[in-house]
Formats: sequence, structure tokens, C-alpha cells
Amino acid sequence: MSYMDLHLHLDGAITPEIARRLADVQGIKLPDSDEELRKQLMVPDDCESLNDFLMCFALPLSLLQTREGLSEAVRLLGDKLLAEGLEYAEFRYAPQLHTEKGMTQEDAVLAALDGLKKTGLHANLILCCMRGEGNEAANFETLELARKFLTADGGVVAIDLAGAEALFPTKKYRELFERASEYKIPFTIHAGEADGPDSIRAAIEFGAVRIGHGVRAFEDMEVVELLRDKGITLELCPTSNRMTRAFTDISNYPIRRFMEAGVKVTLNTDDPGIEGITLADEYALMREAVGLTKEEEELLQENARNAAFCSKNKAYNTKR
Ligand code: HPA
Ligand code: ZN
Repeated sequence: MSYMDLHLHLDGAITPEIARRLADVQGIKLPDSDEELRKQLMVPDDCESLNDFLMCFALPLSLLQTREGLSEAVRLLGDKLLAEGLEYAEFRYAPQLHTEKGMTQEDAVLAALDGLKKTGLHANLILCCMRGEGNEAANFETLELARKFLTADGGVVAIDLAGAEALFPTKKYRELFERASEYKIPFTIHAGEADGPDSIRAAIEFGAVRIGHGVRAFEDMEVVELLRDKGITLELCPTSNRMTRAFTDISNYPIRRFMEAGVKVTLNTDDPGIEGITLADEYALMREAVGLTKEEEELLQENARNAAFCSKNKAYNTKR
């Protein structure tokens, strides 16, 4: 068994335990009661949509506003995943969301790179641009930072587009991804999660080599065929999809349907801290919900190796 998590948000990976450590090193006060901390940090049962879900990031983000906090978060998360048996992970985060206490976006990149050096896990960074209003310059700054720090392994390896997909459609971000293509920066885009197949179509048109979620592709078979023909890999995250209501009927989760259609899929956590899950839980969930077989699990892991934004020899020859 070789586990890789290709879709994991740093802010969404902050567990109550990691939150306490980050609060301690920065002298930040958190609720004394663990129950209250969990309530503030984790997705509630009545979460209705991606927009609701994204509200849960306020607390973890408040702990990631200094170089020390960000570096320590990367280190702690890497060490935790190593202990859980992962052999590789890609941590994604949006540098522009870490500038509330005076860090620049570049500081936020340097801090995360520092944390990467301190963990034993083989891991890389994906810099997220954000959907939203009035942050175009911030997104282009993120893109320039990705260009500056891009490396084949051991650092920044790609960019992404995250945030409220239904409110800010993918097609609005053409210029950003045309520039990324010009710079030869690989990218994945969150699409087909809160918005439908047109969002995936736009991401494919821009040149995304992977799609974050893409779970709604079956609403348009042409999009499924495009994914197959272009060999694009989907980063599926079933628990997250259930929580955001992107796909609620887990017993009909289309993971096998994608495989049968010849689309490459991988299994990932999205936001393990605020969802209260591990990657092993996602595999267990798919075994239980759709009867995922051993062979299918191996195929998912093979797909992850091939789609990882790290040098290919490293993907097959990890630190462990
Ligand atoms: N979609 C969009 N933005 C996000 C997500 C997601 O699933 N998780 C964290 N930021
Ligand atoms: Zn995500």
C-alpha cells in the first residue's frame, strides 16, 4: 500500500491538536475546552454548501499569519502524515490569505518552504489563486511567485484555483491560466464541485492537467470524454463532497464509473483537519460505500504516482 494525497489544503488540514501547537508557539489564545475548539474548527453537521464549508477556514487561517506559524504548520502536518503512512503529499494553500499580520505573499511562500525542509515527509507545495472580487492583482502576484519558486521537486510545483466556484465561474480566469501556460507552470483547477460540467470544460480548455474534484462531470458525457481523451486526472475527495453537498449519495459515488469510462481518478482528503478524516478513512469509505477492490485501490495509487507534480523518479522512489 502506498498512499499519496494530491489534494490537501494546508488550512483545512489543521486538527485541534495542531491548532493548539500553533497557538502555543505564537501566544494566541484558543478556547480552553476541546469541545468548543472542535466546534469552531470543524465542519458542522448542518453544512449546506461549499460556501458554508469555506467559513470553517477562519480559525485555522488565523493561526497561519506568521512565518513561524506557517512553517510549523507545514512541519507538523508533514510529520503527522508520515506517521499515518503517507509517502508523498502536495500541500496547497493561498499565499494571499496569509498577509493579515504583515507577511507578504513571498514571506508566506518562504515560510512554507522552510516547513517543508523540516519534515521527513516527501512533499511539495501548490500555490492557490483565489476566486473572488478585487483580488486579481493578488492572483497574478501568486502566479509570479510560482514562476520564481517553481522547482521539479522539494518546493513549489504547481498552481491551483480555489474558493467559491459557484459565485465566481472558472471561465473568468482565462488570462491567469494563459499566463501560467506561457510560464510553463503546471496547474490543477477546482472545478465541477459547486459548479457544473462547464466549469470543468473551461479548466480543460485552459490546459489544466488535473482537476480538483470534477465529480459533476457525468452531467455532460462530452466532458467525461474530454477528460478521458486528454488523460486528465481527477482529484476526488468523497467526504468533502458529502459535506459541501457537491455529491451526497456516497453509495453512488462515481469513482468506479470514472474508472470504467477510462478517466484517471485519485482519492484524496481535501481538508482532513476540519473534516476529521485521514486518507485511510477515504479508502475505507470507498470500500464500504461502493465496494472498492484491492485492484482498484492499486490503480488509484498508480494514477496518483503518475499525476503527482514531482519528478517521476522520486514518485517511484520516495524518502521512505
Ligand atoms: N473547493 C474550493 N475551495 C476550497 C476547497 C474546496 O473543496 N477546500 C478548501 N478550499
Ligand atoms: Zn479543495
